Amino acid sequence: MPATVIVGAQWGDEGKGKIVDLLAQDSDVVCRYQGGPNAGHTVIVDGETFKFRQLPSGIVSGKVSVLGNGCVVDPEVLLGEMDELAERGISVEGLRISGNAHLIMPWHIALDGASERRLGKLQIGTTRRGIGPAYADKASRIGIRVQDLLDPKILRQKIETALAEKNVWLERVYELQPFDLEEVAGRYEGYARRLREFVADTSLLVDVALREGKSVLLEGAQGTLLDLDHGTYPFVTSSNPVAGAAATGIGIGPTRIDKVLGVSKAYVTRVGAGPFPSEMEASVGARVRELGQEYGTVTGRERRPGWLDLVGLRYAVRLNGITSLALTKLDVLSTFDELRICVRYRLPDGSETPDFPAHQSDFHHCEAVLETLPGWHEPLDDCSSVADLPPAARAYVERVERELEVPVQLVGTGAEREQVLARG
Ligand code: GDP
Ligand code: IMO
Ligand code: MG
Repeated sequence: MPATVIVGAQWGDEGKGKIVDLLAQDSDVVCRYQGGPNAGHTVIVDGETFKFRQLPSGIVSGKVSVLGNGCVVDPEVLLGEMDELAERGISVEGLRISGNAHLIMPWHIALDGASERRLGKLQIGTTRRGIGPAYADKASRIGIRVQDLLDPKILRQKIETALAEKNVWLERVYELQPFDLEEVAGRYEGYARRLREFVADTSLLVDVALREGKSVLLEGAQGTLLDLDHGTYPFVTSSNPVAGAAATGIGIGPTRIDKVLGVSKAYVTRVGAGPFPSEMEASVGARVRELGQEYGTVTGRERRPGWLDLVGLRYAVRLNGITSLALTKLDVLSTFDELRICVRYRLPDGSETPDFPAHQSDFHHCEAVLETLPGWHEPLDDCSSVADLPPAARAYVERVERELEVPVQLVGTGAEREQVLARG
């Protein structure tokens, strides 16, 4: 299928990187459409691990890899990743960066950290990579874009204009050191010299690829419940991970998208603060954290594990128009006598609902209605198809399909590229 969106159906870290890498084998172009180095996408090939924060996961397979206009780009992180890949013998020749993507500047990172410290107990728990402040400047129309790297004079002018305001904030509001124009301009001119050759009209590039019948993957970062409009605001990121945003984030029409593959863990995790109805009790959560190695790819923070939340997933199917699902990390559940799944939410007035609450006060105070399902103990390593799964594991997958009315196309049985069962 020519254009497929791969979207996180939960709170991020669903295993998107692995699924994108797998599908990239049969694709021509892989595009990131939003987010920045707050992402951490893990790809494991032949025992070698890659963790992509800024680059599209297709780069490891030598595919044309696009950072779309909807992304925010930290040049230091990007160049660091490019250098690391080069050291590992992987070419980054296929990289193309939209001139309309916005740059993360050093003050964005400083302001992200300062604002979190100021919020104290109310903090969002951001990755502190400057994501929120960079998107805020984009919306305020005072951002600096990748295309500004093409002209040293314009770049310096824009940095000077930005600093005139940002330094006031840093010094007077947050009592932090100001940034020096010469230092920042010099540093970004250096980045510019290295990145210029990768700047391209990526909207046109993707359009041409689709017209030529090539296969294009649109790789989401974060996840549906972290979406700025539809997620658990304010505990969200500052972009739109939902599939509809792939069209604006790349610069193609929505009618060009053929398929939307939602990626969900067989349970759920959340990193950072915010309400979480199906969160596991501490001892069970600790066990899943160890079994699934649930630690943040970017920040190393402990992820909070929860039981599979069908209410959240039903919402993700609706918001993204998910046409099929990848259910990852089923192997992690292979040691439980019994499993739980969240089938409905119980609202503060005692009523129960299968639908995600539209208002935050309902969501903040709802309880997960959990159902108990039989577990299984057999490892999944020897399964070569979904039909080979232990009966309880197969029933678990089929239950998800029945509840969501969407086929589970891929089942993850381990972190390596090959450890996946495909259906259909
Ligand atoms: P992403 O941000 O959605 O790309 O996900 P992350 O890479 O942050 O986190 C997913 C983690 O689970 C990574 O460490 C992957 O290597 C790992 N992983 C992905 N799929 C599977 C799976 O099916 N089984 C197991 N055990 N690990 C998996
Ligand atoms: P991938 O692409 C999980 C979370 C942060 C915080 C909130 C806002 O690897 O799935 P931000 O730095 O974006 O302003 O932080 O969003 N968050 C993620 N959680 N996976 C991610 O990316 C995330 N990117 C941001 O923990 O709660
Ligand atoms: Mg991640």
